Amino acid sequence: MSKPWWKEAVVYQIYPRSFNDSNGDGIGDLQGIIEKLDYVKELGVDVIWLSPVYQSPNDDNGYDVSDYRDIMDEFGTLDDWEELIEAIHSRGMKLVMDLVVNHTSDEHDWFMESRKSKDNPYRNYYIWHPGKGGKEPNNWSSAFGGSAWAYDEQTGEYYLHLFSKKQPDLNWENPEVRKEVYDMMTWWLDKGVDGFRMDVINFISKVPELPDAPNPNGKRYVSGAEYYMNGPKIHDYLQEMNERVLSKYDVMTVGEMPGVTVNEAQLYTSEDRRELHMVFQFEHMELDSGPGGKWDLKPFRMKDLKENLTKWQKGLENKGWNSVYFNNHDQPRMVSRFGNDREYREESAKMLATLSFTLKGTPYIYQGEELGMTNVCFDSIDEYRDIETLNMYKEQVEEEGKSPEQVMKSIYVKSRDNARTPMQWDDSQHAGFTTGSPWMKVNPNYKEINAKKVMEDSNSIFYYYQKLIRLRKEMPIFIYGTYDLILPDHEEIYAFTRTEGNQKLLVILNFSKNQPEFKLPDEVSFTHKELLISNYHVDVTESIDSIQLRPYEARVYKLKYDL
Ligand code: NOJ
Repeated sequence: MSKPWWKEAVVYQIYPRSFNDSNGDGIGDLQGIIEKLDYVKELGVDVIWLSPVYQSPNDDNGYDVSDYRDIMDEFGTLDDWEELIEAIHSRGMKLVMDLVVNHTSDEHDWFMESRKSKDNPYRNYYIWHPGKGGKEPNNWSSAFGGSAWAYDEQTGEYYLHLFSKKQPDLNWENPEVRKEVYDMMTWWLDKGVDGFRMDVINFISKVPELPDAPNPNGKRYVSGAEYYMNGPKIHDYLQEMNERVLSKYDVMTVGEMPGVTVNEAQLYTSEDRRELHMVFQFEHMELDSGPGGKWDLKPFRMKDLKENLTKWQKGLENKGWNSVYFNNHDQPRMVSRFGNDREYREESAKMLATLSFTLKGTPYIYQGEELGMTNVCFDSIDEYRDIETLNMYKEQVEEEGKSPEQVMKSIYVKSRDNARTPMQWDDSQHAGFTTGSPWMKVNPNYKEINAKKVMEDSNSIFYYYQKLIRLRKEMPIFIYGTYDLILPDHEEIYAFTRTEGNQKLLVILNFSKNQPEFKLPDEVSFTHKELLISNYHVDVTESIDSIQLRPYEARVYKLKYDL
């Protein structure tokens, strides 16, 4: 197995709008990020992934790009960006940019041209269709509600938008589009970026017939995802992109891929196929959703999580590479979702961190995770900003007649805005995020939970992350050791080993507020043991044959077997 730097790296994701505002307009910006680079460095991470900072009208907070070669006015200028990358590199870190090329903004020059006339040279940059019988070309729904097609008066045709109306899908069948994208990637790589996180990159190849999706329940619109997720030409496109662009640079790539299966992920990440280094899979993000999808709440069961993660760990063993994440700008805060954000917030945040850094794969930290930031419950829908949340609220309350209270409940659990409240720097007004009025309210718990506080407490979540990152750097077994689940049927304890030669890591995680007994299975034998990290005080001489675990307790031992 190869040992490239991106397998050994730890990534920190910054959502610029909510990170740090340097000029008092209430919106985070590039100078604000520069101010906080020493903080990020202190954590010990190697790579910063920046959510989009390109020019954008912000229908979807920058995931609707109107100019790929310029910086969003609210975030600064290209000069600020040059200063940022220089400041990141000078601290020995790398910069990964978001690449959003399944769609552009409808305010991108290409689309503004494209919609002008059917024979415009840019017409074929997007997916246009005359419609069927005066209706949309098919029954696909958009991820943000309603039809995936918008009718455009000017030419009397429909264009495809898998996300909002202001995010028309690019036509990847068109070689000119692909060339534009490759040229743009090259432009950034020549400026020194160290890789790309590729937004919904497994959506770029659509089944050309654009067929109706089966609709047994007679709904107005249905997902249609089977006709564009991992579509017919996806591997050709990624191989072409690799050959024409990526292979020429020593960079890392991660493809965001809703709906990707382990088998598909093997194809995307297997080294000899030359596509991507790793993918973000979503299966573990869907374990707490019912048949109605994301907003249909279902209690989370740890056993489902460990079964799923084990499937991915074993599925990509020697075949590809995993990315490891438990939250990001689209997901609820992990301590609220998989831990306990009330009486065991610190313990469970550390326990989940232990999982992140002991699974095999490249770990991703989302800003504020290292403080144990939690979900938020704003009283009124007016405090929410996310297009997906707002559209869903409107649809469910106004069109389906659900009660606002019921809909707010699912927003409290699943809204993307849970992750997007401003970073909590200190206990001053607006958590020190801005001197102005923040674009979204700060989580009211900022007096308790903030960066200043964790930096002053040597026992904090922040320093626990720092220690885990250090261990991972010092001991290659954290990166390359083979994963094996133990105690597969336990409902509360997630335990596994990582093996390299005659050494093992033993990871023991209690996912409950109870005190279950951990019993070491016979097959895990050893002659020496050493406690590497734990989130409670542990007597290092204690036997590990049987341990009564405390609520959300986490321990990692190094075991050695002398022959
Ligand atoms: C995935 C991004 O992470 C999300 O924030 C965005 O809304 C969609 N892709 C569309 O670009």
